Amino acid sequence: MNITVTSGSFAEFPGEVLIAGHFQDNTAPEGAARLLDEHCGGMISELIQRGDVTGKLYSCSVIYTRGMIPVRRILIAGLGKKDEFTLEKLRGVFSKAAREIRDLNIPLAAASLDFGGMGFPRGDMAHAAVEGALLGLYRFTPYKTGEEDKKGEITEFIIVENRSESLEEIRNGARTAEIISRAVYCARDLVSTPSNDMTPSILAERAAAIAAEAGLGCDVMDEAAMEKLGMRALLGVARGSAEEARLIILEYRGGGENDRPVVLVGKGITFDSGGISIKPADRMDEMKSDMAGGAAVIATIKAAADLKLPLNVTAIVPATENLPGGRAYKPGDVLKTMSGQTVEVKNTDAEGRLILADALTFAQRYNPAAIIDIATLTGACVIALGDYIAGLMGTDEDLKTSISAASDATGETVWELPLWHDYEELLKSDVADMKNVGTRAGGTITAGLFLKKFAGDSPWAHLDIAGPALLSKDRPYIPKGASGVGVRLLTQFLMDRSRASHVPHP
Ligand code: BES
Ligand code: MN
Ligand code: ZN
Repeated sequence: MNITVTSGSFAEFPGEVLIAGHFQDNTAPEGAARLLDEHCGGMISELIQRGDVTGKLYSCSVIYTRGMIPVRRILIAGLGKKDEFTLEKLRGVFSKAAREIRDLNIPLAAASLDFGGMGFPRGDMAHAAVEGALLGLYRFTPYKTGEEDKKGEITEFIIVENRSESLEEIRNGARTAEIISRAVYCARDLVSTPSNDMTPSILAERAAAIAAEAGLGCDVMDEAAMEKLGMRALLGVARGSAEEARLIILEYRGGGENDRPVVLVGKGITFDSGGISIKPADRMDEMKSDMAGGAAVIATIKAAADLKLPLNVTAIVPATENLPGGRAYKPGDVLKTMSGQTVEVKNTDAEGRLILADALTFAQRYNPAAIIDIATLTGACVIALGDYIAGLMGTDEDLKTSISAASDATGETVWELPLWHDYEELLKSDVADMKNVGTRAGGTITAGLFLKKFAGDSPWAHLDIAGPALLSKDRPYIPKGASGVGVRLLTQFLMDRSRASHVPHP
């Protein structure tokens, strides 16, 4: 989909469909809808008065203009109650409207962001509108051989603005949103791809291709290289699979030569069967998404490069399958991590923290300004926070505050859980320095406490995305399936951080 911003009057705009908004409980059209109404003999006013157009949030009414103005149809998008309107709702509104237009088989859509006075900067509105439309239109079709599932692509999306002084701001917002949404698509594609076509080495190849296109540094380590570094925890998990593990490292250097990087670490289990502590068959297929954290950091560093952010970022993805093969690691085994600490394996299904342990130790080599890891780590997090909220833990208040601010701005909800020190004893082992599971109760927190032992002294935060990574039903602008969660959050975090570091000192 090609996105453009043009100036001009909505009433003179030609084409198949124009999106205008209407707030619930408004008795008359406002903004662009009002202008169109004036040119259409009060048709919209009448529909509102008769109760045919209600403005109910996410509703869509398609009206034919019958030659009264050049555009053939007006789509009145319901904006809900005016005093409850948010940019998050605007994302949903544009997703619904764009999907409606796709269902009508119209390849070109135009929209006005003039809803009458409303208090949001036009740039932010353009960002939310483009993001909502693109994210809502996402489909994963490479494995569909029929045409039915692919038809109706919208090829052109135009924002029409009548105030020429807002054009620049709108263009910037739309462009930023497009870059970020493309990165979310990239993450969703990686996660949606079934594990037979998304092995650790294929993930590494895909990462290398993304890196080449975005101008990122890329280094992929094989098992022999990991062995040299003593990454016995990561290699232990990999033993049960015939597929070789990979450690993927991507580097973006948009900052100064000596600026310490933000290091993003993403869990890259391309399939999690549980290993010898095997999972139940029911819904095991969903475990192709156990590399969603890895996909999120690959897509985020791509977005950082495409946005040319003035900072340094490193993305690290430990990638392996977790399978119960004949050489698989077993409950009771003790693994020596790269940090030197030893771990007794109580459950081979708690594999994420093992591969992240070595990746976090490796991350120290980059002298990070901050480390954020992101992982589909615990089922317990889904019990605690549900399907839509990621767990946030960490050792640094400022870092957690910045992540929460990015969460508010993007609508990728996070909620903090405490890394409560009294629970640390739950990880005590009789034979090794620690064991890899605590109790069932508080399972997300003990997983966080386990990771903390490998995070070193850098400011560190951990995001558990077990809930939101793969959705079993549609949300307003996130179709069911792989959500790409974390990409918008982390990219916003990096954008905010580069803005903050560029404030000139007085
Ligand atoms: N990948 C899973 C966590 C998960 C579960 C993600 C459901 C998404 C949806 C992880 O590797 C795992 O199996 N965790 C175990 C830990 C337990 C053995 C301590 C779990 O949550 O059951
Ligand atoms: Mn597991
Ligand atoms: Zn897992």
